[in-house]
Amino acid sequence: MGKVKKPCCCTIFIILVVIVVAAGIAYAVLRPKNKAKSSVDETKYADALKVSLQFLDIQKAGKLVNNKISWRGNSALKDGSELNVDLSKGLYDAGDHVKFGFPMAFTATILAWTILEYGESMKKVDQYKPATNSLRWITDYLVNAHPKDNVLYVQVGDGEADHKCWDRPETMSDKRPVSQINKTSPGTDVAAETAAALAAASLVFKKSGDASYSEELLKHSKQLFSFADKYRGLYSASLPKVKKFYNSTGYGDELLWAGAWLYHASGEKRYLDFVTGKAADDYANFDDPTWFSWDNKLPGTQVLLARSSCFDADAGGNSVIEMYKKTAEAVMCNVLPNSPTTTSSRTDSGLIWVSEWNSLQHPVGHAFLANLYGDYMKKSNNKKLDCDGETFGPDDLRDFAKSQANYVLGENPAKMSYLVGMVGYGEKFPEFVHHRGASIPADEKPSCSEGFKWLESDEPNPNEATGALVGGPYLNETYVDARNNVKQGEPTTYSCALAIALFSSISATNDVDKSLS
Ligand SMILES: *[C@@H]1O[C@H](CO)[C@@H](O)[C@H](O)[C@H]1NC(C)=O
Ligand SMILES: *[C@@H]1O[C@H](CO)[C@@H](O)[C@H](O)[C@H]1NC(C)=O
Ligand SMILES: *[C@@H]1O[C@H](CO)[C@@H](O)[C@H](O)[C@H]1NC(C)=O
Repeated sequence: MGKVKKPCCCTIFIILVVIVVAAGIAYAVLRPKNKAKSSVDETKYADALKVSLQFLDIQKAGKLVNNKISWRGNSALKDGSELNVDLSKGLYDAGDHVKFGFPMAFTATILAWTILEYGESMKKVDQYKPATNSLRWITDYLVNAHPKDNVLYVQVGDGEADHKCWDRPETMSDKRPVSQINKTSPGTDVAAETAAALAAASLVFKKSGDASYSEELLKHSKQLFSFADKYRGLYSASLPKVKKFYNSTGYGDELLWAGAWLYHASGEKRYLDFVTGKAADDYANFDDPTWFSWDNKLPGTQVLLARSSCFDADAGGNSVIEMYKKTAEAVMCNVLPNSPTTTSSRTDSGLIWVSEWNSLQHPVGHAFLANLYGDYMKKSNNKKLDCDGETFGPDDLRDFAKSQANYVLGENPAKMSYLVGMVGYGEKFPEFVHHRGASIPADEKPSCSEGFKWLESDEPNPNEATGALVGGPYLNETYVDARNNVKQGEPTTYSCALAIALFSSISATNDVDKSLS
């Protein structure tokens, strides 16, 4: 019997193999690129969220609480003390030890926005508390940086002097000068961004039940907005030394962004009037899609006011709000790969690419905005986005967001994941990140200049800068993993916040909360 059956089994077996192989090939050839992996993706994105949140812990200054980073300790404990203010908390900006208020406030605004929209999904993977704690680490600092009306401390540490050192934050010994803006040396951009951060955070803490802290944040936010609006000027004109680091190219975008956040947080009509009044004529730049970054908040403002248009009855019928929404649509049509109005600013394999410095901030920021906008569309039962006659929907926006995230996580020609600590879809992640603390062994105590041997060392970083999103690839999709490659290899906290935003939004299944409008 065995002998009779055997060839029969073999034939069936061969047929089966052929079918399986053919099906496999057909699947590999025909599968839609982003959709097939979706069930795997959701856990990958949640993992990426967990990893990226750790970078905010790595960047914390001050007396650490429940520190989980083995190679980090207390630092900068006396920041602000000569002015009798406690500026010890907050986050170091990047691989160095300056606290730059402008990008730090933006980091807080993005983190707060993410918690507001996707906090429920964060809770499911135990990331809500870490995210909220990191947000509060910044807002505590920002509140202390605003000791009275019309004064805001906007920087601790001197960029020039700081960059002459290569040391660990725990042992740094250089002076920590504090810079301020005030009535005679204003800074509309940084004051307004700080107002936006505190307004957004006030909603987070209101929702989490911390009513008194929430009110305190809102109070500071309103005062800072008045200061920003009344005493107009670029902070980089008042403090020319910031030009080399975070030169602000305009303050109109931050004024509108802050007004939009204050309207969202307080519901007060005067803020709606502000964003729809003269400031809109002056600064809104309607119909022109631009790139979201630490310097340009217009696309964020457009998406946030589109939210108001969708969910807020007072804003809904307003014709100027509709113009913000239309411009938000133009921003979406600009990044959707099959849109007739799509941008040419992308790499051959589809990554949005705008600048050689910190190239990932644009694709990551726009992927977040796209997915968020798609979630607003879904929640408001508006399923159609028109791009010059072609129709797109929330799923197209989500596919775009995932394509950018997958690229960041290693689905790219270099097979490099740009998120430190996670190989993702690639084969490796950067090991020579431009980051002082990560590059120096934790038991070393080099002075300011002694540490440069660690910058120049050929060995990979002894400490992993987990969660760092490095600057990113060149337009030709190459990446040089070298410690002194600042353009590509220096992680920043604001890019990290955008990565947290993106990974939260795509690991979530549409949990934006309509009631918060
Ligand atoms: C206002 O700020 C400028 C720039 O930081 C500073 O030089 C000046 O001393 C400040 N004014 C006061 C009254 O502190
Ligand atoms: C800073 O921004 C201003 C305003 O856009 C611009 O005129 C100036 O050239 C910029 N400076 C640097 C150093 O980038
Ligand atoms: C990729 O672009 C960078 C930056 O423009 C350039 O230095 C490098 O030589 C290019 N690499 C290749 C392989 O073309």
